[in-house]
Amino acid sequence: MQNDIKEVLYSEEQIGAKVRELGAKLSADYEGRNPLVICVLKGAFIFMSDLVKTITVPLEIDFMAVSSYGASTKSSGVVKIIKDLDVSVEGRDVLIVEDIIDSGLTLSYLIDVLERRGSNSVTVVTLFDKPARRTVSLEPHYKGFTLPDEFVVGYGLDYAEQYRNLPYIGILKPQVYEK
Ligand code: XMP
Ligand code: MG
Repeated sequence: MQNDIKEVLYSEEQIGAKVRELGAKLSADYEGRNPLVICVLKGAFIFMSDLVKTITVPLEIDFMAVSSYGASTKSSGVVKIIKDLDVSVEGRDVLIVEDIIDSGLTLSYLIDVLERRGSNSVTVVTLFDKPARRTVSLEPHYKGFTLPDEFVVGYGLDYAEQYRNLPYIGILKPQVYEK
């Protein structure tokens, strides 16, 4: 598995420090509120579990799955809800936890859906951002790291469902997906 990685971009320790920093900011900003924290499956599952442990305000969690890249490395532009939330977002302060923003299509669709369902606020925290690839205008409220335009895996992110368990984020060798 490690042999398929061209370069480690951020180590487990660097990611951990950044997650704690984001958690401290969110804890201060959500003081006195009870946010509904939504994990966008599957990629955000590790970030979500690490992040909520660093947030000190009471909160609820829920999960959503939307269609993404499948086994390809490019967005199809088609977003579909595969698993919806269990709870209502009406009147709630919603915090969307994303692994990575690329074109921004997935997230702009999600924000729109959650706003139309009557949420009080919709805020986005993403661990990784590839702003160079944006096709819709979208700026996350909180972000961890800005990445170069390379396909990355690890810390929840996959290629063809593999590599999610790597504790760091790294660039996948192109020969892995060009085979
Ligand atoms: P969009 O283009 O809608 O895509 O912003 C966001 C979703 O695409 C996936 N994605 C990646 N997954 N390595 C991955 O493993 C990457 O480099 C990458 N870029 C985008 C991811 O699921 C994200 O939620
Ligand atoms: Mg994926």
